[in-house]
Amino acid sequence: MSTIEIAPSILSADFCNLERDLKAISNADLVHVDVMDHHFVPNLTLGEPIVKRICEVTDLKVDVHLMIEDPDRWAPEFAKCGAYSVTFHMGATHAPVRLARQLREMGVKACFAVRPAEPVEPIFDILDEFDMILIMTVEPGFGGQKFLGNQMAKVRRLRDEITRRGLDVKIQVDGGVSPSTAHIVAEAGADVLVAGSAVYGAESPAQAIDDIRDKAQV
Ligand code: DX5
Ligand code: ZN
Repeated sequence: MSTIEIAPSILSADFCNLERDLKAISNADLVHVDVMDHHFVPNLTLGEPIVKRICEVTDLKVDVHLMIEDPDRWAPEFAKCGAYSVTFHMGATHAPVRLARQLREMGVKACFAVRPAEPVEPIFDILDEFDMILIMTVEPGFGGQKFLGNQMAKVRRLRDEITRRGLDVKIQVDGGVSPSTAHIVAEAGADVLVAGSAVYGAESPAQAIDDIRDKAQV
């Protein structure tokens, strides 16, 4: 049986009740924190002071998803906040290998993200520099968008490459994941499922996490 991890995104939480909403997802494996800068994506969320407090108050591993320009400059600052993993985008970085190595030296998992129109194959030659690859299944920027099933071929190609080479690299999928799409993502070969609106839009976030986990057992 696959060991799928669930990472609720606090983008759909109540930013005035973050501590309460972090406690509501204590049965998750990680908490996914979306950092947006009004430049790389047309939305603005939060920065280092809030990430630092989240790391202090939660027992969950904090998975920081940077949707910002110049991650080469800023990603190490988020690593210093106590993050478990820091994800930066192919479309934003200038020196992904250098940044990944810097993050790993700081004791943080290094993760690389691709948007729906970006191919995954250019990463193949540098796959071993990363702990996780994030395949976006919506255009980054907002929660509650429709799941892009056409990204599953990309997930499958990446899974095949990782398996063929016996690499220890996880695949994360982010965007439109819910109890009704979880099995599609899991079947394609994802390890970590991010879900925002499906968790925080539910009456019971903890129940929604269990539902997604159940549906992802393929
Ligand atoms: C979108 C963010 C996602 C977002 C997902 O740019 O990266 O993490 O919170 O939200 P849902 O699960 O509602 O698609
Ligand atoms: Zn995200």
